[in-house]
Amino acid sequence: MLRVPVKTDFAVLSALRNDSAVQRQLMIEPRQYSPAQVRAWIRRRTTDPSGVFLVIDCSGPCGFVQLTRIDRGRGTADLGICLARSIRGKGVAAKAMGLLELHAKKKLRCKKLTLRVLRVNHRAIALYRKLKFKMLEIKRRHHFDGAHWRDVVFMEKALR
Ligand SMILES: CC(C)(COP(=O)(O)OP(=O)(O)OC[C@H]1O[C@@H](n2cnc3c(N)ncnc32)[C@H](O)[C@@H]1OP(=O)(O)O)[C@@H](O)C(=O)NCCC(=O)NCCS
Repeated sequence: MLRVPVKTDFAVLSALRNDSAVQRQLMIEPRQYSPAQVRAWIRRRTTDPSGVFLVIDCSGPCGFVQLTRIDRGRGTADLGICLARSIRGKGVAAKAMGLLELHAKKKLRCKKLTLRVLRVNHRAIALYRKLKFKMLEIKRRHHFDGAHWRDVVFMEKALR
């Protein structure tokens, strides 16, 4: 299920925030985040009026999904997902994405979800394709990950 974060989710969210591979995949600054910085991040995400941040819970916290830049006028939002390594490859991501799509459609009246993903993130792209996200464009050498300029794929899905 998806639910709002609670204090006991901190360890899982902090581990994800500080996982260097996840940082690369999510295109966030590659560095170590102190407990105070992780708390500030969770606070920012959960109080953002243009965002939604929910913990994926499968008998305990195992990742998160988020919507950012929700535009209520246009009915659009950017989507993100991150799972703990131990729970990957079990179909949880597709289920969580399905629940998030439902939330976006029913609660926020979103008509379209958009996302950005590194072109080298084949696993995430395979997931999005499976869930019927369409590739819009690839921006070449669009994101610098601290070592390399990476191509970024832009995808979207109309919610019917
Ligand atoms: C992206 C993420 C949510 C996907 O969840 P997951 O549980 O690992 O995904 P799955 O195992 O269901 O894999 C999705 C699909 O990719 C396929 N796949 C797995 N590894 C692959 C690879 N290296 N190359 C291509 N396809 C791959 C799987 O076979 C599966 O397709 P199928 O269901 O038809 O068999 C998860 O890996 C994650 O949290 N990664 C770190 C954060 C991240 O990258 N987020 C996305 C940023 S935009």
